[in-house]
Amino acid sequence: MSKAAASTNIESLLKETRVFKPAKEFAAEAHVRSMAQYKKLWTESVKNPDKFWKKQAEAELVWQKPFTRVLQWKEPFAKWFTGGRLNVSANCLDRWLDSGISNKAALIWEGEPATDGKPGEERVLTYKQLHREVSRFANVLKRNGIQKGDRIIIYLPMVPEAAIAMLACTRIGAVHSVVFGGFSAQSVADRIQDSGAKMVITADGGYRRGAVVPLKKNVDDALKLHDAAGQSLTKTIEKVIVLRRCANEVHMAEGRDVWWHRELDYVSDICAAEKMDSEAPLFILYTSGSTGKPKGILHTTAGYLLGTKLTSRYVFDLKLEDVYWCTADVGWVTGHSYIVYGPLANGATALMYEGAPNWPEPDRFWRIIQKYGVTILYTAPTAIRAFMKWGDEWPKKHDLSSLRLLGSVGEPINPEAWMWYHTVIGGGRCPIVDTWWQTETGSIMITPLPGATPTKPGTATLPFFGILPEVVDEQGKAVPKNSGGKLVVRKPWPSMLRGIWGDNERYKQTYWSEVKGSYFTGDGCRQDKDGYFWIVGRIDDVLNVAGHRIGTAEVESALVSHPNVAEAAVVGRPDELKGQALVCFVTLKTGVKATPELKNELRNHIGKEIGPVAKPDEVRFAEALPKTRSGKIMRRLLKQIASGLEVKGDTTTLEDLSVIAKLASGEE
Ligand code: WT7
Repeated sequence: MSKAAASTNIESLLKETRVFKPAKEFAAEAHVRSMAQYKKLWTESVKNPDKFWKKQAEAELVWQKPFTRVLQWKEPFAKWFTGGRLNVSANCLDRWLDSGISNKAALIWEGEPATDGKPGEERVLTYKQLHREVSRFANVLKRNGIQKGDRIIIYLPMVPEAAIAMLACTRIGAVHSVVFGGFSAQSVADRIQDSGAKMVITADGGYRRGAVVPLKKNVDDALKLHDAAGQSLTKTIEKVIVLRRCANEVHMAEGRDVWWHRELDYVSDICAAEKMDSEAPLFILYTSGSTGKPKGILHTTAGYLLGTKLTSRYVFDLKLEDVYWCTADVGWVTGHSYIVYGPLANGATALMYEGAPNWPEPDRFWRIIQKYGVTILYTAPTAIRAFMKWGDEWPKKHDLSSLRLLGSVGEPINPEAWMWYHTVIGGGRCPIVDTWWQTETGSIMITPLPGATPTKPGTATLPFFGILPEVVDEQGKAVPKNSGGKLVVRKPWPSMLRGIWGDNERYKQTYWSEVKGSYFTGDGCRQDKDGYFWIVGRIDDVLNVAGHRIGTAEVESALVSHPNVAEAAVVGRPDELKGQALVCFVTLKTGVKATPELKNELRNHIGKEIGPVAKPDEVRFAEALPKTRSGKIMRRLLKQIASGLEVKGDTTTLEDLSVIAKLASGEE
C-alpha cells in the first residue's frame, strides 16, 4: 500500500471468527424471530422511511393530536411528526392506567447497602403509584413557578425521585438536564449557565460506597461561582428543591430553597399532561466534547420517545414479565433512554440500583440478580472487565439462572470480555446484544436482534430498523468490505439530536461538515464480509504508526486477551521516525507481578495477535487508568503523560484525580 493511501485508511487488524447463532427456543418466543424477518423489515424501513416511521409512530405512541407530516428535512435540521401533539409522561404512565398492568411494578429500586452490612432498602413503584408521584411532583414544579419550556437541572442520586423528577418535567413541558451526581459544583454551574436553568432539583446527599456525597452543598457552591469577569454563572436560578435522602445537615436559603416532602403537602395528585408539540425540547444532556467545553445535546419529544420505545422492545426482546436491569446512572443517556423512557413506554418493569458494583463486596450485582430474578442485564464493558478482574468466585456464589439476555454498551467490548460475559454470567445460554449508539443518537443504532442475528464477539453487528450507517473514506465514499474508515449515518432518524443547545454552528461543524450529506459519528469502523460493523475506536484516537492507521480499540483488545491483563489503554506519542509511537498503559489482574519480562511478553503477544506493526514501543504498568465517571478511558490525559507533558485541560470529568499523579510519576 502506498503511504498516501495508507493514511486515508484505518487498518483493521483483528480477526474474530467465532459465531453464535440465536438458540431455537429463544428465537421461537422473540419479537423478531429470524434473519429473513429482520432483513425484510430493515429493507422496507430504509427504502421507504416515511411509510415505515408513519406506521410505527401511529401504532406505538398515544397522540393528543395526530401528526400531519412524517419528516421535514432541511439538512442538518430535522423535524419529525410535525403537527402532532403528545406527552411523554402520558405515554409512559397514563396509558397503562386502564390496562391490566396498572398495578404491576414500573420501577423496582434497591438502595445501597448500609455500612453496617445491612442490606439496602427496597422500594417498588407500580404504574399507578408512579403516575401519582409524578403528577404530584409536577404540581410542585408548577407551584414553584415552572412553565412550559423552562429548563431544570436535576442533580440527584440514583433514587426513584430522579425518574419522578424527569417524568414530572415532561408532564408540564419543562426541559430537564440531568447532571450526574458524581460531578462537581463547577460542572453544575457550567450547565446552569449554558442552559439558562431556572431551578435545580437536588438532594441533601447521596450514598456512595458508604459515604455521603454532599449534593446540596455542591449546589450551594455552584450557585456562588463567578466567571473571570465577576459575573455570576447561575443568576437564572430562582428555586432549589431539595429531597431528603441522607438527613445530613444542609443549609436552606430562605425564599430560594424548599424541601421536596414539604412541598408535596400543598399539592393535589391530579395534573393534566400538557399537550406538547412533537418537536418540543424534551431534554438537554451535556456530553464532553474533544475540546473540553461540554456540548448540550438537545433531544425533542416524539422522535426520541419512538426511538427509545422501539429499540427497548426489539433489542432487549422486552416482555411484560421481564425484570429488566440497566446498570447505568440516570445521569447518562443510557439511563434516560433505557431505565426511564424506553422501558416505561413499553409497560416494562425496570430495576434501578443506587450503589456501586463492589460495595460492600464485589458480588453486589449478582446478589441483586438472584434476589429479584433479573431476566435482562444491560451493562458496560468497563464493568465487565472489572468483574473479570475481581474473579469468577463472586458471580459463582449466586444463582443467575433467571437471566435470559445480556447487553453491552459504551465502548467496543473486547472478545475476551464478551466470552467471559457469555460463559460466566450468561451460563452459555443468553444472547448478548452489543449495542452501538451515542448520546447524540438518542437510541440504539447498531445492534443484534437477539432472536435473529448471529453474533460474533466484539461487533455490534447490523443496523436497527430505519438506520442506514456506512463506512466511508476521506471523500465520503463507501469503502470496500473489510477496510477501515469513518462511520457515518446516511439518513436522518427520529431520535437523532436536534442540535447543540444554543450553538447551531458547532452542531453543523461537529456532525455535518466532515462528510457531505451525512451524520458523522466520530467513530472509526470496518464492515466485515457479512456486513457487520466493527467499531475500532474514536477517529481522534486513531494512531498513525509508520503510515499504518491503527485503531486503539484493537490493540487494547489484543492486550486484554492476555491472561494477566485486566485493562489496557493505548495512545500515541510523537515519534521522529514513525510519526507516532505506540504506548500502552496496562493494569494487571489481581495478584500478577509487574516484571520487565511480562512487558516483553505483552509486546510479543500483540505482535502475534495483530501483527508486528502494532508492537508497542513502550508498555507501562499502572495501578489504575484515568476514567470518566461513565467508565470511558481519558486517552487525552494519557497522551500527555506518554509524551512526558504536564497534564492540562479539563479534568472535571475524571473520576479519581490521584490516578494521574501516580501515572505521571511513573509509579508502578
Ligand atoms: C461513543 C458514544 C451509547 C450510550 C453510552 C455512551 C462508543 C458506545 C459502543 C459499542 C463500540 C461504542 C462509541 C460512541 N460506544 N457503544 N457498543 N461498541 N463503541 O454514550 O458517551 O455518547 O459515547 O461510545 O465511540 O461514539 P456516549
